[in-house]
Amino acid sequence: MADLAGNPSGPNVVYLKDYTPPAYLIDNVNLHFDLDASATQVRATLTVRRNAEHPEANPPLFLDGQQLELLSLRLEGEPLDEAQYRLDEEGLTIPDVPEQFELIIETRTNPAANTALEGLYDSGGMLCTQCEAQGFRRITYFPDRPDVMSCYTVTLVGDKAKYPVLLSNGNLVEAGETDDGRHWARWEDPSLKPSYLFALVAGQLVCQEDAYTTLSGREVVLRIYVEEENRHKCDHAMTSLKQAMRWDEETYGREYDLDIYMIVAVNDFNMGAMENKGLNIFNSSCVLASPETATDHDFYNIQSIVAHEYFHNWSGNRVTCRDWFQLSLKEGFTVFRDQEFSADLNSRAVKRIDDVNILRTHQFAQDTGPMAHPVRPDRYMEISNFYTVTVYNKGAEVVRMIMNLVGREGFRKGTDLYFSRHDGQAVTIEDFVRAMEEANHIELSQFMRWYNQAGTPVLKVDEEYDEQAQTYTLHIEQSCPPTPGQPEKQPFHIPLAVGLLDMQGDDLLLQLAGDNAPGEARTRVLSITEARQSFTFTGINHRPVASLGRGFSAPVKIQTGYDDEQLAFLFAHDSDEFNRWDAGQKLAMNILLRLIEQFQQKKPLMLDDTFIHAFRKTLLNPRLDKALIAQALSLPSEGYIADQCEVVDVEAIFEVRHFMRQTLAFELKDEWLQIYEANSSDNSYAFNAEEMARRSLRNLCLGYLLETEEQAMFDRAMQQYREANNMTDTLAALSMLANYAIPERQQALEDFYRKWQHDQQVVEKWLAIQAGSRLPRTLQHVRQLMQHEAFSIKNPNKVRALIGRFCAGNPINFHAGDGSGYQFLGDQVLELDSLNPQIAARLVQSLSRWKRYDEKRQTLMKQQLERILDKEGLSKDVYEVASKSLET
Ligand code: TRP
Ligand code: ZN
Repeated sequence: MADLAGNPSGPNVVYLKDYTPPAYLIDNVNLHFDLDASATQVRATLTVRRNAEHPEANPPLFLDGQQLELLSLRLEGEPLDEAQYRLDEEGLTIPDVPEQFELIIETRTNPAANTALEGLYDSGGMLCTQCEAQGFRRITYFPDRPDVMSCYTVTLVGDKAKYPVLLSNGNLVEAGETDDGRHWARWEDPSLKPSYLFALVAGQLVCQEDAYTTLSGREVVLRIYVEEENRHKCDHAMTSLKQAMRWDEETYGREYDLDIYMIVAVNDFNMGAMENKGLNIFNSSCVLASPETATDHDFYNIQSIVAHEYFHNWSGNRVTCRDWFQLSLKEGFTVFRDQEFSADLNSRAVKRIDDVNILRTHQFAQDTGPMAHPVRPDRYMEISNFYTVTVYNKGAEVVRMIMNLVGREGFRKGTDLYFSRHDGQAVTIEDFVRAMEEANHIELSQFMRWYNQAGTPVLKVDEEYDEQAQTYTLHIEQSCPPTPGQPEKQPFHIPLAVGLLDMQGDDLLLQLAGDNAPGEARTRVLSITEARQSFTFTGINHRPVASLGRGFSAPVKIQTGYDDEQLAFLFAHDSDEFNRWDAGQKLAMNILLRLIEQFQQKKPLMLDDTFIHAFRKTLLNPRLDKALIAQALSLPSEGYIADQCEVVDVEAIFEVRHFMRQTLAFELKDEWLQIYEANSSDNSYAFNAEEMARRSLRNLCLGYLLETEEQAMFDRAMQQYREANNMTDTLAALSMLANYAIPERQQALEDFYRKWQHDQQVVEKWLAIQAGSRLPRTLQHVRQLMQHEAFSIKNPNKVRALIGRFCAGNPINFHAGDGSGYQFLGDQVLELDSLNPQIAARLVQSLSRWKRYDEKRQTLMKQQLERILDKEGLSKDVYEVASKSLET
């Protein structure tokens, strides 16, 4: 897209610096829905008043609205004729309005035709809504921005048979029947809320009900609504919800405020879940679970997502965002809250490793590509593209750093001040940081750069030991590579947690030069604020090994130049569980990178004994938590290895990683077998840290054993597949078998589908396993599966399972040298763009980092981006990602 002068003429860019307060506020919203799958009529009655904060004296009234059919418009009871308003693609303008008035708008929409799943849509006969970020404008004309907060009353009228259950936010105040045999329900939400938190659901649903008594003694009704066949899959979510409610009371002093809290499971949903006030809507896959159908990972995930949405009631709903640039105000903070909740309920170290793994594999990668943006972006074309690992997960790391700077108690003082000062308001990230500063009497102005500068900072650390003076000095240099629109970066304020290990591997007491008080700590947080800085420790009578960035104290890359021996030492001894794991990962990475070079030079590959020895010792260490062992013995993913390479050599990475796994499989075969056997169990399934740890270690062993490709091992996997009493073990066996061209593979896959074809969540797993297989011909297989009855291009979960998994979770096949994977992605993006732009835009991201690959692949990837951009009427969502990817 370009004009005649060659200027890009894509969709408009919205800038943070252009923010102005709304011209009009809406105090009350009264919505009347006449529900029908293909023609729903909405009557909105709005009480409108001019906003004194707006700079203009007599501004026109602009209401956002998209894909609506306007039926009528009345101002203070008087119908408006066409000369009195203007309609365009983006909304409705009424140039001349009084200071205060009532506006009645009647519109019609077609939920059945809404495949974008924004606004009001039909999911398998059930009507539901998704309004964040800008879906409400597809329901009625409205100032669809989060700084307009209103009181909602909602009346739903619908067919009794098709829509027996009628839900919206708040409390049910009245219900009844109409003369024509339909029924209705009226809901009132007493809280002030922005339009993005509005929701309705109408359908044939059953509910599981429970109750919760808040700390102050209020009774709250809890309901989870699902389709009849999923009635038995609600227990875990219900337990999680009650755990989350208790945790927020104990940890943040925050109680729930309405009399009822509802969760609804929906099969077609663009994201994980949505925190609509009092009526959360969940992707079925993020709420439904039973031991037979859900894995440990699913159980874990559900617990944290249920909590995440619940926590939004304070961090997001009662205190909301002024504008969408502030998204991390609610998302970064709420992810931090759910991470801490999971850490408190399960294993803290395991949780930290999981979270850092996500950040380093996905967020660090985003920082090196064309979509890199700060935690608070300052511009966007389509806000849906900014629900990212940067805003969510890096945002959570930034909040975590604040907590580490002010301490847990200081942090609580800060959140108390933030919630009480801003309850009922739409605020900014500055407001959050200011509450932290004022409650703790500190200054965070340099720290604010974490919100405004994109990119992953790099710390280059050099050490210097002075035997005579008995001092040990760390020389630290920080830098941050340029990102789009930000060629130069100012130094960050980086808290670096450091420990020093003596020769035995024990932590030394730390005394910083210049500190008067005697050192009592064995971990010190160094405050790095300059581009170059040195820290000297005194009283060190032997050269120590430094453990840097303990607990991943800041989202940075640390370069130390440690050799294998030092890393193996830290891997064996570091008292910080996170850093012990990290040392193992760094050791494995160093070896992998050296092997990749050898592979490229066509030299024979050899794995040295120190590494095998370190693995054996960890595997057999009875004092270690089993889950930590499993994490320690998992090699870095292909994607993460790729990020450490100057040019990504897809085949070399795949072959070398496979070589390393196979070598470990043979070298430690007896040990893998021994631990596999020792960790079997006849117990029925239980979701707890100990059992999860046992299963994860056992399945890690099975994974290595299969790499021997011995029939006896395949038999073992088949036996586990057949005999497991829970989905974790069944699926582990099945997904491993799917990587080998053996008859058992087909047998197990067919058996699995036969058994589970009626259960959509399980069918998603079945699709994903096949899409993730490293076998050649996987692409043909994926194309065939797209024709299978189990697949639907209109269902985001199925698209993610099959297409998403292939394009973002199967590097060796997606990046096939002939470009077939890229061609496939191009085909799917073009089809999905017309159906569901949000899903299409996520998919394109797999092409965005084309510059990281060899020339041949670069050309092939660019071709597909250009092909996508050539499409007539391309969505804003896809245009933004594809065009930014091609910018040089
Ligand atoms: N606010 C949701 C969360 O808890 C995110 C979300 C759900 C969303 N559905 C969406 C964002 C649709 C954009 C579009 O994280
Ligand atoms: Zn959220």
